[in-house]
Amino acid sequence: MDVLECIKSRRSVRKFSDKKLEYDTIKNIIDAAVCAPTAQMREPWGFLVIQDKEELKAISDVAKEGIKKEIDTLPHFKKYEDWFNDPEYNVFYGSENLVVVYGDSDAHWYKEDCCCVADNIMLLANNEGIGTCWIGFSEIILDTPELKEKYNIPQNYKPVASLIMGYMDRTPKPPRRKEALMFSK
Ligand SMILES: Cc1cc2nc3c(=O)[nH]c(=O)nc-3n(C[C@H](O)[C@H](O)[C@H](O)COP(=O)(O)O)c2cc1C
Repeated sequence: MDVLECIKSRRSVRKFSDKKLEYDTIKNIIDAAVCAPTAQMREPWGFLVIQDKEELKAISDVAKEGIKKEIDTLPHFKKYEDWFNDPEYNVFYGSENLVVVYGDSDAHWYKEDCCCVADNIMLLANNEGIGTCWIGFSEIILDTPELKEKYNIPQNYKPVASLIMGYMDRTPKPPRRKEALMFSK
């Protein structure tokens, strides 16, 4: 797939085929994705890979409870309140695979750097028939001291991008976008 086709065909995928996504395939994608640019060449990232549906379901349950408790202070989540109250809703959509890009918050531009690497991961995955979806709903749970302790993630590392992954069972329609807003004098 050429670069243009890869960019233009990437979609968020929330349902995957049963084909097993091997750890080595994910690791190879990460190893290529880290060619992303970084401010001051800090490469301020670390990656958490979880490949377990049940573990992800358990994290989703805690994430939903945490959001519900704090909903009044989270206006951007308010409109999804019904989803968080739905026992069937899993923020990871039942996916078996999650890759989280954590950024070293001691590096000033860690968020920008980690977004660059995350987009590379999504595009490299798309090139291999692997779908991804960024899961912003998991940002709070992934930043809790308990979770970071469990996976040996230093406390100064902040979750920037949380991506479910899996082989696609169909080719999604290309995205439709607004005309780019162009500024000029
Ligand atoms: C920062 C960010 C957070 C997102 N969080 C979620 C999420 O929690 N759940 C979800 O289903 N999709 C999430 N998405 C995916 C968007 O809904 C999706 O990118 C958008 O609808 C455009 O669709 P497309 O990616 O298929 O082009 C997120 C995307 C981004 C970039």
